[in-house]
Parts: sequence; C-alpha cells; structure tokens
Amino acid sequence: MYNMLKRKVFITGGAGYIGSHACVEFLERGFDVAIFDNFSNSSQEVINRIEHLADSRLTLFKGDICDFKALSQAMQEYLPDSVIHFAGLKSVNESMTDPLSYYFVNVGGSLNVLKSMLTVGCKEIIFSSSASVYGDSGEPPFTEQSATNPVSNYANTKLTFEKILEDCAESGMIKAVILRYFNPVGAHPSGLIGENPRASATNLMPVIIKAALNQNNYVEIFGNDLDTIDGTGERDYIHVADLAVGHLRALEKIESLKFFQILNLGVGKSTSVKQLIGHFENFNQVRIKTKMSARRQGDVAKSFADPSVAEQLLGFHCVKSMEDICKDTWNWVQKNPRGYVGEGD
Ligand code: NAD
Ligand code: WQD
Repeated sequence: MYNMLKRKVFITGGAGYIGSHACVEFLERGFDVAIFDNFSNSSQEVINRIEHLADSRLTLFKGDICDFKALSQAMQEYLPDSVIHFAGLKSVNESMTDPLSYYFVNVGGSLNVLKSMLTVGCKEIIFSSSASVYGDSGEPPFTEQSATNPVSNYANTKLTFEKILEDCAESGMIKAVILRYFNPVGAHPSGLIGENPRASATNLMPVIIKAALNQNNYVEIFGNDLDTIDGTGERDYIHVADLAVGHLRALEKIESLKFFQILNLGVGKSTSVKQLIGHFENFNQVRIKTKMSARRQGDVAKSFADPSVAEQLLGFHCVKSMEDICKDTWNWVQKNPRGYVGEGD
C-alpha cells in the first residue's frame, strides 16, 4: 500500500469543478497539496472553501500551463512526488470552432506539465481523460480495450496526450495513469463546492439547472428516436465525489500498476435524458420544462462504462446514488445560484 503520509501532490486545474473535489479528498487523506491554476474557468473563492472543508491549508500557484517558465518555477519550489493533471479546456462545441486553442492548451500545455515535472525528478502523473475518446467506435459498455474513435477536436486532444504519455511511459521515463471519466455530475454534499455555472454551458445537467432555476427556460431534448430505452440519449452519470475518490485510489495504488494504465471511471450503467430529468424533478420536487428537438450532431445514442478494471486494480466503485446526484446538485445550486460570483472574486 502506498505510503501517502505527507506525499506532495501538484494538482493542475485544482480550482476547477472536478479538481476542487479531488483536492478536498487528498487533503482529508493527509496529502500535502499544491494547486496550479490560471482561474480561467474557476474562482479563487474555491480555495477558501476547499481549505474550510478539509480543515487544512494548501499551496497555491497562480499560473498558466502554457507558460513553461511559470510551471517550472512552481515545480522547483514545490518539488512534488506526483502530479494530477486536470487543467485544460473542456467544451466540445468550442473545440470545433477554435481547435487551435484546444491543441495549444490540452496538448501543448500538457507537454509543459510533463516536461516541467521531469525537470524536478517527478515521475508520476494521473491524467484527466474522457470517455469521449471512444466516440462512435462501437456498442457500450466501453472497456479500456474498446476501440477509440473521437468525433470532436476536444476528444482528439485527450487521445493525443494519452498517446504521448504512453510513449513516455514505455520508455521508462514516467508512470502514467489515464482516467477516462464518463459524465461527471453532482456536487459536494456540503453545498460549498460544485460546478461553477457558465451561461454558455451546454451539458445536460447545467441545462437542467437553468430550467429548474428559471421557469422561462426549458431543456431541449436532443432526439427521441434513438435506439435507447425511451428514445433519448443514455449516459453514465458519475457523482463528482465518487470521481474524486477514484483519483485518490489511483494514486494510492500507483505502485502496483503498470507503467501505463488506462482506467474507466464510471458507474457502469446508463440513464436516459428523460430519466435524468424525471429523477431531478422527483428528488428535488421541482418542475423542468422540456421541448423535443432534433438530434445533436456528433452525439452517440448510448455511452456507459465497463468499470470492472478500476474495481479490480483500485478496489474502486461508485457508492453515490442518483438521489445523491440530484439532491447534492440542487443543494449546491440553491446555496450558490450564481456559483462563486461575488465571493471574493
Ligand atoms: P473545469 O474547467 O471546471 O476545471 C479546469 C481547471 O483548469 C479550471 O480551474 C481552469 O481555471 C483551469 N485551467 C484551464 N486552462 C488552464 C491553463 N491554461 N492553465 C492553468 N489552468 C487552467 O473542468 P472540470 O470539469 O473540472 O474538468 C477537469 C478535467 O477533466 C479537464 O481536463 C477536462 O477535460 C476533464 N474532463 C471533464 C469532464 C466533465 O464533464 N467535466 C469529463 C471528462 C473529462
Ligand atoms: C448528455 C446527453 C445529449 C444537452 C460531453 C463530452 C464528455 C464530457 C461530458 C468533457 C446526450 C443530451 C444534452 C441538452 C440534451 N465532457 N442533451 N439536451 O455529450 O455525453 O459528453 O460532456 O470532457 O467528454 O463529450 O454530455 O451532457 O452534453 O449530453 O438532450 O441540452 O444529454 O444529447 O444524450 P456528452 P452532455
């Protein structure tokens, strides 16, 4: 078992949605944590909240992963044992209209992370990848062996950096764990941290939230004639708190893993758009207006994980329910209807 006592973890993008939950988990487990973030999609208020929830302090480096000098300086100062690399751009739509920014940040910035950690002798990296790398490669459940066939530039950037890590791991330079997340949702049960809402957000849960908060909004359901349980798209929604624990387990078990290990992080079952909306209404006693719409370009009908490798190698499985997902999301939103806005920004 990994000796995690005061191991130093350098967390890029640690102020973001998933990163902030992971930071709480690592701090609570006794790790020493540093965040490197440019706050392009997060607020500095989250740092106070992470420290409050974990009842401990972290080290903050404000910087951009595209700035190799800033990253190297932070690495030299902190001298991490391991890196958890969340920082990046994540909008599928934006990646189609602005591919260059996505390659610069998600591939170029990630290369900087890798190069700068090596300069201080840090050889362990856990990388945030995405189930979108499977694209339309075949029928779910997706195993780590399933073919990949990205249908967006965003997914291409993730797969590209996976391959770079694989090549470096095969040469013996590093040990890399690739975590392919399915659809992260939910928030910390305290309601203190969650997904900072973006007006432009197009993922299903943020759109459900908008409709629940403002009854003038409705959820456009993209297609009701798909080959799924009720004709609407099916996805594997994983609670962000489970996802955070998955990172902790990956680092705790890294010594027993191969030099390059891909792991799916998902629940292993799918929920349709209609079902998710129905759960959200029932568990939170709110009404969500909907409107049927055409299929969204690039969407697959069904996507869900085979999570058995993470179970087998990490002893990890999700423990949160759909009720937790819906209630924790609504609790966070009601306590912070504008996210972290106005809280120290
Ligand atoms: P997020 O946008 O909430 O967090 C990303 C963090 O990285 C933010 O704090 C942002 O300020 C920071 N950041 C962005 N660009 C940066 C840069 N150039 N330099 C330094 N910091 C930068 O996103 P998230 O949902 O927490 O996602 C975290 C990671 O997980 C991302 O790599 C994302 O692609 C991946 N992922 C997310 C999902 C999802 O649905 N949320 C699914 C699969 C994979
Ligand atoms: C879920 C389902 C839609 C919005 C993407 C990325 C993935 C990850 C999560 C970053 C689908 C339907 C949606 C709406 C709808 N992100 N939907 N009306 O497309 O599975 O995954 O985000 O890494 O990598 O690919 O997530 O939440 O957009 O869609 O009907 O207004 O909800 O068609 O079936 P997706 P999503």
